[in-house]
Amino acid sequence: MTHYKSGCLVFGIMLALLAPNTSSNSEDHLSPIIVVGATARSAPEIIIQGLAEGRRVVGLARSPEKIKIDHPNFTAIKGDVYNVGSLANALDGDEVVISLVGPSHVPGKEVTSVDLYSVGTASLITAMRRKGNTRLIVTSSGGTEMIPDDKKTTGSFAENFVWLKRGLYQDMQRMEKIVTNSDLEYVILRPRGFVDQPAKDNLKIADGVPTPNPSSILSYADFAALVLSLTDGDRYLNRPIGVYTDEYATSP
Ligand SMILES: NC(=O)c1ccc[n+]([C@@H]2O[C@H](COP(=O)([O-])OP(=O)(O)OC[C@H]3O[C@@H](n4cnc5c(N)ncnc54)[C@H](OP(=O)(O)O)[C@@H]3O)[C@@H](O)[C@H]2O)c1
Repeated sequence: MTHYKSGCLVFGIMLALLAPNTSSNSEDHLSPIIVVGATARSAPEIIIQGLAEGRRVVGLARSPEKIKIDHPNFTAIKGDVYNVGSLANALDGDEVVISLVGPSHVPGKEVTSVDLYSVGTASLITAMRRKGNTRLIVTSSGGTEMIPDDKKTTGSFAENFVWLKRGLYQDMQRMEKIVTNSDLEYVILRPRGFVDQPAKDNLKIADGVPTPNPSSILSYADFAALVLSLTDGDRYLNRPIGVYTDEYATSP
């Protein structure tokens, strides 16, 4: 297993300020986590907030040297979701697995031939079974609920956006089915669009109903707090939930 630890002054200082309160008994029970796709834009907030809660955190990435987080409870590990062995190698068996993987794509261009979510998540489940991990949190999208049969001609930005990304959302649907049919504890998250803004504590959850507000935005910070709140206990367990806000980047 190759572990990478990279130093970064800014993050080092930030994490020193957020140093875990190891004397807090109330936080001792929080599960360790492994963030899969740890170079994702949404990953740093989850890692940093998780460390601040006193958790052991592993970040798995194809290029772990890109993760600029230095903390005694953090380990960056090289891995690829197409390689089950690299995933199993990264797991100790007690972590909650949080998947943030997504394919790179050019905004405004049609996304085709995606199997990263379905094949990658099947690999993750195989590795988890091998090592004994029991809980998986995956990131899907509210877009999975909106895939049209045909290209719409309304000129709606949201509809065109979903049409161009339908190949991606279709693979998320395959992923959701694989997760739902697994014997794991799971939460499937269907967020709307992420933005890099401070926490606003404004997330809303669509539980058992379609995710409203297609063009709404949520901050990585709020999303991270939600994800971490789902690693223990049974809130929203074993179902998909929509994650949205009443805030828009542009007028809906
Ligand atoms: N961004 C949004 O507005 C939005 C909205 C709804 C849902 N989502 C979903 O939420 C999740 C997180 O979003 P994000 O924007 O933070 O993601 P992101 O920045 O696009 O990052 C995706 C991550 O997946 C990793 N990855 C790709 N292929 C991989 C592989 N074979 N093995 C391991 N890792 C691999 C990438 O690693 P490399 O650095 O090596 O490429 C990258 O770290 C994604 O599933 C995304 O589809 C995003």
